[in-house]
Amino acid sequence: MSVHSEIKRITTNTLLSMKQKGEKISMLTAYDFSMAGILDDAGIDVLLVGDSASNVMAGHETTLPITLDQMIYHAQSVVRGVKRCLVVVDLPFGSYQGNSKEALNSAIRIMKESGAHAIKLEGGEEVGESIKRIISAGVPVMGHLGLTPQSIYKFGTYSVRAKEEAEADQLIRNASILEEAGCFALVLEKIPASLGTKVAANIKIPVIGIGAGGGVDGQVLVMHDMLGINKDFSPRFLRRYAALYDVIKDATTAYINDVKKKDFPNEKEQY
Ligand code: KIV
Repeated sequence: MSVHSEIKRITTNTLLSMKQKGEKISMLTAYDFSMAGILDDAGIDVLLVGDSASNVMAGHETTLPITLDQMIYHAQSVVRGVKRCLVVVDLPFGSYQGNSKEALNSAIRIMKESGAHAIKLEGGEEVGESIKRIISAGVPVMGHLGLTPQSIYKFGTYSVRAKEEAEADQLIRNASILEEAGCFALVLEKIPASLGTKVAANIKIPVIGIGAGGGVDGQVLVMHDMLGINKDFSPRFLRRYAALYDVIKDATTAYINDVKKKDFPNEKEQY
C-alpha cells in the first residue's frame, strides 16, 4: 500500500511538456498555508514563495530585507498547504550572490527544511556558475531576468527594462546562458512584450512573464495584487480578479458594528 496520495503532481517536466503543447502555465505567489491550499485547490500550476513576501507580508519597501530563515518559514507553510502544484522558492538577497558554495548551501537549506520542489534566483551570466552547482546537487532552478527587484538600487527605478537594444540583446544572451546552465524555466519581469515573445521563441524552456506580454509560455502575478488586497499598486500589467481590500474592510466594519450594538453573539452563537 502506498503512503502517497493519487493526485498527479506538477513537475518541472510537466511544465516543459506544457510549453511543447502550447498550453499556458499559471503561476501565482503564495506565502502561507491557508491561501496556498485555496490556490492549489483552484488548480494553479506553480506557486512561487516569492521574496515579495518582504513587501506584502512584512511591509518592507523592497525585497532586500527578507532573510533565508524567513523564506524557509513561508515555504514550509506553503508546502504544507498544497497537494498538486509545483512549489518554487526564491533565494533571498544576500543568500547566493557571494559565491557558488554559498548559493548551493542556501538552496540545500530551502529544499531540506521546507520540502519545496525548486528554487528561483535573479540574474544572468553572473549567477551561471551558482546555477550549475545547485543543479548538479539535484535542485531544479528557475531563472529571473528583466526587472530583478533585488537589484533595485542599481536600477534606481521599477520602470520597464530592456527597452534599449543593448539591454534587450544582453537579456536574450542571458536567457540562453540560463537555459544552457540547466534552468528548467525562466521568469521575465516588466519588459516589452515583443522581447518576451522573442525570448520564449528562442529557448526551449518555459518562459513565465510578469509584465512581459502574452507571447510567453505562462503568467505569474503577486497574489495580493491580483486579489485586490493591495489598493495602491496599479501597474499596467496587473489585472485584478477580486477586490478583497473592500471585502475584508466591509466585513470587519460589519463585525465591529455587531459587537458594539451587542448583536453578536446572538442566542444561537453561544453555549
Ligand atoms: O518575489 C516575487 O513575487 C517574484 C515575482 C514577481 C515573479 O519574484
